[in-house]
Amino acid sequence: MTMLTALLLLQATPLPHAMPGEEAIDPYEVSPRNAGATPFEGEGMAKAFGGQGGIRRIVDRLVEDSYKDLVIGEIFQSHDRVRLSRTLFEQFCFILNAGCVYSGREMKSSHKDLGVTQRDLNRMVEILQRAMTAEGVSFQAQNRFLSKLAPMRRDVVER
Ligand code: HEM
Repeated sequence: MTMLTALLLLQATPLPHAMPGEEAIDPYEVSPRNAGATPFEGEGMAKAFGGQGGIRRIVDRLVEDSYKDLVIGEIFQSHDRVRLSRTLFEQFCFILNAGCVYSGREMKSSHKDLGVTQRDLNRMVEILQRAMTAEGVSFQAQNRFLSKLAPMRRDVVER
């Protein structure tokens, strides 16, 4: 096999975790560090979120409502929703210790040049809180989870 064929093959091969319908992206190193937070210990948080089923419904609602939101919807429009739904689910599930591997990119490069403001982040947190409440997650568990996400602010907010 020539070098060129190998390169072409590599380009055409989807990443191992990709779902059908995801757009191709440049290769990157997969690492649990990319998730931006260490997982909770024990099963308590996973249970509080209703396991993988509950996390899936929360992420689906978060993605759905973020894309159509009047404040932040525009930032998402041109981005791959299939991939975002998958990687966000993996990230939340990993951090909540509900039995997933995070295979997405790290937070800084994922949000580079999106121009996300503190106001946008606040809005996304509100949408997430609504989704968690709809799933019956206690406020104590919601706040514990939000505290894990809080330090990611420095990688997400650019202005
Ligand atoms: C702590 C809060 C946040 C977390 C945990 C988070 C998490 C993620 C994850 C896991 C990805 C996918 C990475 C990948 O494709 O490999 C992503 C991408 C993205 N995020 Fe966030 N995000 C946060 C805040 C925000 C905010 C506030 C906005 C906009 C209002 C935003 C907009 C986006 C967009 C548009 C993408 C897609 C980028 C692309 O297609 O290259 N994110 N985010």
